[in-house]
Amino acid sequence: MDYLQHLLIPIVSTLLLLFLLKSFRNSKSTGKYPPSPPALPFIGHLHLLKSRLPTSLENLAKRYGPLMRIRLGANEFVVASDEKSAREILKTFDADFASKFMPGLTNFHLYEDSSFIGAPYSDYWKLMKTLCMTRLFTGSQLDRFIGIGEEETCKLIKLLLMRSKAGEPCDLTEELSEVTNNMIYRMIVGRRCSKNLGQAAEIRNFILDSLEHAAKFDLGEMFGPLQKFDLFGNGKKIKSALMGYDRLIEQIMKDYEDNDLNNCGNDHEKDVMDILLETYKDTNAKVKLTRDQIKNFFMEIFMAGVDTIIAAIRTAMAELINHPNILKRLREEIDSVVGNNRLNDESSASKLPYLQAVVMETLRLHHPSPILRRLSRKDSKINGFDVKKGSRVFINIHTIMRDPNHYEEPEKFKPERFLANRAEVKGQDFHYIPFGSGRRACPGSYLAIPVMHLVIGALIQCFDWEVKDGDKADNKAKGSGYSGACPSPLMCYPNARFDPFQE
Ligand code: HEM
Repeated sequence: MDYLQHLLIPIVSTLLLLFLLKSFRNSKSTGKYPPSPPALPFIGHLHLLKSRLPTSLENLAKRYGPLMRIRLGANEFVVASDEKSAREILKTFDADFASKFMPGLTNFHLYEDSSFIGAPYSDYWKLMKTLCMTRLFTGSQLDRFIGIGEEETCKLIKLLLMRSKAGEPCDLTEELSEVTNNMIYRMIVGRRCSKNLGQAAEIRNFILDSLEHAAKFDLGEMFGPLQKFDLFGNGKKIKSALMGYDRLIEQIMKDYEDNDLNNCGNDHEKDVMDILLETYKDTNAKVKLTRDQIKNFFMEIFMAGVDTIIAAIRTAMAELINHPNILKRLREEIDSVVGNNRLNDESSASKLPYLQAVVMETLRLHHPSPILRRLSRKDSKINGFDVKKGSRVFINIHTIMRDPNHYEEPEKFKPERFLANRAEVKGQDFHYIPFGSGRRACPGSYLAIPVMHLVIGALIQCFDWEVKDGDKADNKAKGSGYSGACPSPLMCYPNARFDPFQE
């Protein structure tokens, strides 16, 4: 007991001293910093985050204002919750806020310092973002992706027609998960591996495994000092899942290299792996890509691309099932434009304004990844307050896209609002920024929007939907709301009303 006391007293007093010194330093610092709720020693404001992170931050912002500071464990964050602050961070001072910080679970990474999504504003990030915007997700790759999207949508509809014939229910989330994962997999390695969709499922399982164990860390463990102790062994499980992914992706890369298949003619014939291996082998390149960076990039594309699309389509379908009038209006539009002898395809989308409005309203009300992250590279002034260089910033787009000053009855699903007033999806209207804005905006929006039009249009065109247990589809957001989409099951009966494949 004596021994324990001797050990604990100096530790506790040192920690208290550090805490007091820090508070004293903060109180002495000049400048007008954003307000902050009273904090507890060590945990900061963790005790105030009782519900999902976006809602907790929204409640705090109502008291402390649209730009405030909070502390989670040892990490301080500036939280922006209104259009004005978002515009200043993402547009006026975009270059000063073009860095990001890693989301939190840094101790269990396999590819250290190789992240693209969490990268600082660096030569590596600039190279990859340029590739994304000029070659990987635009032009001929975008055309390829839409073709893949149409093929995978046909497969989904055929499968659901079989379920309908057998009178069986389906978990729509599960079915969407396979289709979306196959689309991204085929976009990345489709030229060599499109017949091996088992491999796509294996990658998905490794990623789901790692996300499942990551979700077991609560915000306290993620941002507090306990993370490195990995008390419940979840960190070890994340690492083991990532090692499985690593073995598989290494084997695929070797396969491409051994068969020298990345040396094919024009961009139209290449897939994303071809383009990245070509860049990797370019001896004249100013910035050299590493193997870990390529592997991590693919993993992040699976993480950023698959669950966001699944969650968005799933929530749109749940809203349509829960609002039969909206579903009816959408179906009438699709029937009148697409007709009754072919399946909805991408080319019809421009003639389907109500379908576009349904997609926009879904991303406003049920955003799959509602907190944007930034790291400031310079001292700056945002919304009248000083924000120091090195500040971690959260932009709560959940709150911004529900601002009652911009949206009448913001909590309601009303696609009509976007017929009268079409906000720009590309992030220039700062009360509607589902894909973020500025340098770090989502490069996948050009892929995601057409896929949503395709799949939702086809599901409404071909089926009546009935929830398996109860009348209403559950559309409550799951997960902490910090680390991204967390689509939950949606058990329902697809009752066929139109079979586009019938001879
Ligand atoms: C409905 C689907 C999607 C939504 C709602 C979505 C949303 C977002 C958001 C909000 C960001 C952060 C933007 C910012 O901080 O300003 C982001 C970043 C990103 N997204 Fe998406 N995304 C979707 C689909 C995709 C797809 C399909 C891909 C790729 C195939 C993708 C790849 C990325 C990447 C690589 C980044 C990081 C960009 C950077 O840091 O420079 N996303 N996404």
